[in-house]
Amino acid sequence: MNITEAIRARRSIRKYAAGAEIPDADIQTMLEAAMMAPSACNMRPWEFVVVKDAACKQALVGAHPFAKHLLGASIGIVVCGLPEKHNHLSAEFWPQDCGAAVENILLQALDLGYGTCWCGIYPNQDRVRQFQQILDVQSVPLALITVGVPAETPDARGFYDPKAVLYR
Ligand SMILES: Cc1cc2nc3c(=O)[nH]c(=O)nc-3n(C[C@H](O)[C@H](O)[C@H](O)COP(=O)(O)O)c2cc1C
Repeated sequence: MNITEAIRARRSIRKYAAGAEIPDADIQTMLEAAMMAPSACNMRPWEFVVVKDAACKQALVGAHPFAKHLLGASIGIVVCGLPEKHNHLSAEFWPQDCGAAVENILLQALDLGYGTCWCGIYPNQDRVRQFQQILDVQSVPLALITVGVPAETPDARGFYDPKAVLYR
């Protein structure tokens, strides 16, 4: 699958094959893709929490009203920002940097045969605080990505909207 195909094929997947295990090598490939995302001044203000533990998944689902599908997913990957990791030019860009890392994970996962769903955390401060507590991190959880073997195949979406494009 090339990049043109992957971008057009990607859909949010919320139903996963039960009991499917993701090899560590594939998890590493997804995390490598994340860390190859562009970031302002190449500050790479991120860290990643891989969630495999059933009790941890359950706790996260309790902290996020729209992420119940984590329970059926093989893993979750929480992309966390490091707002303090910036230079004089890159302050406040960390959410954009982390967003680029999230999208790289989604596309890399698709190429490996996995389905994903991006579940937003930041800037909902209540979710941020609960995720920090559950995951025991000081960084700012920005997104939870559920990852698993797809058990649904939603049609590709055609979303091109010429009205959203301005020329000057
Ligand atoms: C910032 C952001 C937050 C999102 N949060 C959630 C979420 O909490 N739960 C969920 O099931 N989907 C979530 N989504 C997925 C969107 O619902 C989905 O991308 C959108 O409906 C388009 O569908 P598609 O991804 O299949 O193209 C989120 C997506 C983004 C980009």
